[in-house]
Amino acid sequence: MKILGIETSCDETSAAVLDHEVRILGNVVLSQDEVHAPYGGIVPELASRQHIRSIVYVVSECLERAGLGLDEIEAFAVTQGPGLIGSLLVGLSFAKGLAFAHGRPLVAVDHLESHIYSAFIENRDIGFPILALLVSGGHTSLFELKEPLNFRLLAKTRDDAAGEALDKIAKFLNLGYPGGPVIDQLASEGDGGRFHFARPQMSDGSLDFSFSGFKTAGLRQIRKFGINREHPDFIHFIASFEAAVIRTLLHNLDRAIDDFEPGSLILCGGVARNRKLREQFLELADHRSVPGYIPSPELCTDNAAMVAALALEMLRHDPSPALDLTLNAYPRR
Ligand code: KG4
Ligand code: ZN
Repeated sequence: MKILGIETSCDETSAAVLDHEVRILGNVVLSQDEVHAPYGGIVPELASRQHIRSIVYVVSECLERAGLGLDEIEAFAVTQGPGLIGSLLVGLSFAKGLAFAHGRPLVAVDHLESHIYSAFIENRDIGFPILALLVSGGHTSLFELKEPLNFRLLAKTRDDAAGEALDKIAKFLNLGYPGGPVIDQLASEGDGGRFHFARPQMSDGSLDFSFSGFKTAGLRQIRKFGINREHPDFIHFIASFEAAVIRTLLHNLDRAIDDFEPGSLILCGGVARNRKLREQFLELADHRSVPGYIPSPELCTDNAAMVAALALEMLRHDPSPALDLTLNAYPRR
C-alpha cells in the first residue's frame, strides 16, 4: 500500500509518499518564506498563488524521490482545514483531481490532528491515553486521545498562538520572518531570567492559553528599555521572552497531566522545533514519569508526511472510503 499526501494549508507546499508501515518513501516541503519575508508575515493571496505554481513540481519531485509512478499510488490524502482557505483549496482540488483520474480513495484530514499523528511516523507504539500539546503559528492546543483517532480538545489559545507571539515580537525587532527559528537561535546565548513576564492565569481555572498579554508586555519593554539588536541586553530579552512562552506552555501541560493521567505525552507543531522547548518538555515528561515523544524537527513544521500518516490510520478503520468530490475546505476547526 502506497499513499500520497498533500499539504497546502498555509505557506508550505508539500507532498509525501508513505507505505502501509508508515515509512516515508519521499517527503518534499517547498517553503514560501522568501515570498512572504518582505511583508513580515504571510500574505494569503500570495500564498495560494504560489501553491498553484508549486504543486505540480512538488508532487512530481516527491514521486521521483519515492521511485514511483502515479499509477502505483493506492490512495490519496489531503489537508481539508483549518488554514488559509485559498491555500487549502489548491491542495484539495489537486488531490480530488488525482483521486478521480486514478479511481483511488481520497482521505481528507484535519491539519491539527495530522500534526499529532506526525509523532507516530517515528514511534509506532505510543501508548494511549495520549496528552498532545500542539504548538504552531496558528494554533496552541491541548488534545486528549483515549484511543486512536479519538481527538478531544481540552484547551486552546484565547487569542494569539505561541508561534504567532514569537513571530510578532521578531517582526517588531526586525529579525525577519518567520521569527521562531531566529528567536530559537538568539535565545540560546541569552539569560532567560533577565526580564520578567507574568504568566497569564485564566480566572475560570481553565487550561486555555493566552499569549497576547506577553506580546503587549514585550512591546512595552522594547519601548521602555529601547531594546534593539545593538542593546547590551538584546539576547537576554529574546531569551526571557522565549522562556516566558515555554513556561506557560509547560505549566498548562503539567496541570493537564494531573487532571488526565495520560499514558504518553506528545509535543508537536512548528514551535516544537524549538530546542529549549524540546529539552524542557522531555525533562517534564521524565519528572512526571510519563513517556514523552517529539517528532524530528523537519516533521514538526507543516509537511505532507503527517497528512499521509493520519490518513493511513483512518484507512485502517475505514479501508475503502467513497470518493466525495463535494468535499470543501474549512478555514477554522
Ligand atoms: O506548524 P507550523 O509549520 O505552521 C502552522 O500550522 O502554523 O508552525 C509554524 C510556526 C511559526 O510560528 C514559526 O515561527 C514556528 O513555527 N517555528 C519555531 C521554530 N521553527 C518554527 N518556533 C520556535 N523555534 C523554532 N525553532
Ligand atoms: Zn501546522
